[in-house]
Amino acid sequence: LRAHEGRITPDVAEDARVSYEGSQLLKVTARTEGQKEALHKLQDMEGVDTWLRLAINSSTVDVLVKPETADKVKEFLGSSGLTFDVVIDNLQAAIDTENPTMSPEEMEELEGRKGHRMTWQSYHPLADIHGYLDYLAQTYPQFVTLQTIGTSVEGRPLKVLKISSNRPGSPAIWIDGGIHAREWISPASVTYIINELTENRDAHGEAVKNVDWYILPVLNPDGYEYSHRVDRLWRKNRHVNGKCAGTDLNRNFGYKWGGVGSSREPCQETFAGSHPFSEPESAAVSSFIQNQAGSLKVYLSFHSYGQYILHPWGYIRAVPRDHADLSRVGRNIATAMYQAGGASYTVGGAAAMLYPAAGASDDWAKGAARIKYTYTIELRDRGSFGFILPVQYILPTAREALAAVKTLASEIANVR
Ligand code: ARG
Ligand code: ZN
Repeated sequence: LRAHEGRITPDVAEDARVSYEGSQLLKVTARTEGQKEALHKLQDMEGVDTWLRLAINSSTVDVLVKPETADKVKEFLGSSGLTFDVVIDNLQAAIDTENPTMSPEEMEELEGRKGHRMTWQSYHPLADIHGYLDYLAQTYPQFVTLQTIGTSVEGRPLKVLKISSNRPGSPAIWIDGGIHAREWISPASVTYIINELTENRDAHGEAVKNVDWYILPVLNPDGYEYSHRVDRLWRKNRHVNGKCAGTDLNRNFGYKWGGVGSSREPCQETFAGSHPFSEPESAAVSSFIQNQAGSLKVYLSFHSYGQYILHPWGYIRAVPRDHADLSRVGRNIATAMYQAGGASYTVGGAAAMLYPAAGASDDWAKGAARIKYTYTIELRDRGSFGFILPVQYILPTAREALAAVKTLASEIANVR
């Protein structure tokens, strides 16, 4: 068996990890229009990490409040008449129990038996995911190839797995995960999809075999590693901009870049970068996609959380000309996801239903790369655990994600 790059375990001392001891996740509810105004203020307040912003048809926001800012925030809530539930009382305790990892012995046994370390019982570090992609390319050379489409800020490879129909002229589907580092269920679900389309290839019907798949499970590998090793709630990439690190890769794409819902301030969570495609991760994806010359019929990006199936536009509340098609297929996806895993997903235009945010990958895929069926799917949950989704939800969520991509494959499999 091949040697993997070793898992670098205690490369950051325990005390160098960011602690969320005493941080609370609050679900805050508005009952009047005036209180909704207050929610808008709250979600942009300094020292508040907003996990789920106020959506158009919602009246709640999820905010993480650190002990240092708890007094200020609770005073604000009181004076605006907002009520709240404490959803997670001590975030550090939730983080500590979220991801039970295997012992080195168990890991070695697994690798000896299967040729890789990937499971859908826990959230894996980047080395396990990349090792799994290598294993698949070596095991199924007839239809699986692995390509490095670029390099992250810190020099990690951006690995795209191609699963080929072996039929020239086939329609193609692009899938990415892990644009946002802390949304661990996204790479977990995308690797599950890869597993089903390779190791379990005959179980999913003809459509999936008649499509060429291009799959990038971890678009933001630096952020993903950082979220495992240092700060569980890291969102952006790891580009250092003056006194703060990180560009929000989902605000850095070059279509209507820099508009509403993105920030020019490097310390903000939605920092759009210094210019469109200033980041190597987003730039590599755009070049690769642009080179697929019209074969791509689907662009699909997995995020969490909220259980939404979002289609363009995200920068403006208007909808594209073929909105009826996007909406119809979106509703088919929702039905399939519900049947596969039991969670309800809400379908709509990203800005019209959620909130406007410019510079996201989906708008670029639709507006610049002109890929018809472009979606962002926000996986589970709806804010009971948020980003810290316990491992027993990986499989049900991943099955829903698989159902989504199968629906899309059936939709385009006969389109030429
Ligand atoms: N939660 C995602 C984000 O904030 C939603 C993106 C939806 N798409 C959009 N173009 N706004 O990045
Ligand atoms: Zn996201």
